[in-house]
Parts: sequence; structure tokens; C-alpha cells
Amino acid sequence: MTDNPYDQRIDYTKNNYLEDKDLPDNPFPLFEGWYQVALKRIHPDPNAMVLSTLKDGQPRGRVVLLKQMDKKGFTFFTNYDSAKAQEIAQDPKGSLTFFWNTLERQIRIEGSIVKIADKESDEYFMSRPIGSRIGAWASPQSSEIKTRKELEDRVRKIQEKFKGEEVVRPQNWGGLRLEPHYFEFWQGASSRLHDRIVYELDKGVWKQKRLAP
Ligand SMILES: Cc1cc2nc3c(=O)[nH]c(=O)nc-3n(C[C@H](O)[C@H](O)[C@H](O)COP(=O)(O)O)c2cc1C
Repeated sequence: MTDNPYDQRIDYTKNNYLEDKDLPDNPFPLFEGWYQVALKRIHPDPNAMVLSTLKDGQPRGRVVLLKQMDKKGFTFFTNYDSAKAQEIAQDPKGSLTFFWNTLERQIRIEGSIVKIADKESDEYFMSRPIGSRIGAWASPQSSEIKTRKELEDRVRKIQEKFKGEEVVRPQNWGGLRLEPHYFEFWQGASSRLHDRIVYELDKGVWKQKRLAP
């Protein structure tokens, strides 16, 4: 034992190997299978993922929640005027990272990010609790505000504005979808001999390979 609080180390002992014979020929069933396990075992926020974007070559990461997933890609919702959305508008390349520590699993996904259709954003927005809908109107996400009171005053104004009316989606809030061309599934194993399986899209076909840990 050392006194260094950062010198933490565990051995990944589940040895839940990613066997070659079990690997599907595209990454989606593997993602879905792992996600189903995370749903049961990771609490809270099994759908939390780090979204990384680029600002003039500077990588920037933050956590967002995955809300939809299908063969088209991975959808999350945010403010279209936020820093992340502006970075994506400048350069649509992005990556997603899931880390499910008690499962000893990480998934990295890379691709391009596009806006989803307004209708899809409307549908999701209306499914949100009223407080979150008011918040989407009230918060100029990523802009400087002087005090918490300023934010609370903005919330009160929006509540007043919508009194007795349906709180519909603001135009500057909605979904973004990362359309993947690269996945890496990482399964921890003993003595750092982890499994790493990559899927890469090559002319419309998923190619798979194994990387050294
Ligand atoms: C668990 C968790 C979930 C979050 N989910 C979202 C989300 O779905 N959408 C979002 O815009 N921000 C979400 N955030 C806040 C972001 O991490 C970030 O602070 C915010 O989006 C502003 O980022 P930006 O200034 O880079 O645009 C979440 C944060 C945490 C810790």
C-alpha cells in the first residue's frame, strides 16, 4: 500500500472473455446484448456516455444520455445553441464512450453527428416531465450566467409565459444522432490481458478485428 490516493488498482477477474466464435458479423447485436446487461446491473444512468467533440482541434468531452439506438445510430438530446452543438456544426466528427465499471466493460463508438428530424425531437420533447421542458426553454445552455437566481428568474418567466398552455419544444432544443463507423468493445480480464474487439465500416461492410490490450 502507498500513501498515493491515486495509486488504485484492481485486477479484472470476471474473465468474461469475448470469444471469437461468439462475435456477430456486425456490432449492433453485441452493443444491444451488452446494453441489456447494463440495464439490469448499472444504476443509475446505464445510458450515460461521454460525448467527445472537437473545437478547433481541441477535444472536448462531457456526459450525455443515450435516448434512442438503432442501425441509424445513437441519439441524444441537447440545446442546439450549446457549446457541443456549435462544435458539431463546425466539425461533425464525434465519439461516444460508455464505461460500465462493475461489468468491467467499455464501448467506444466513433462517427459523424447529424440533427434528427424536428418531428422526432417534438415527440421526445413531449414525453419529458414538465419541469425538464420548462428548463429547456429557460436555460441558455453553455452561456455565462451571473447567478443561480438569474436562472431561477428565467424559469419563473417561462412558467408565466406558458401558464395554461402546452409547453412545446423550443426550436433550439432537440436530438443529435451519431452515425457510427467504428466500434470498440473492451472487456476487462486478469493481469491486464483484456479483450478488445473492433468493428469498422469499410465500403458499407462491417469488418472485425482484435486488438492487443
Ligand atoms: C449523468 C449526466 C447526464 C447528462 N445528460 C445530458 C444530456 O442528455 N443532454 C445534455 O445536453 N447535457 C447532459 N448533461 C450535461 C452535460 O454533461 C453538459 O454539462 C452540458 O450538456 C453542456 O455541455 P457543453 O457546454 O459542452 O455543450 C448530463 C450530465 C450528466 C453528468
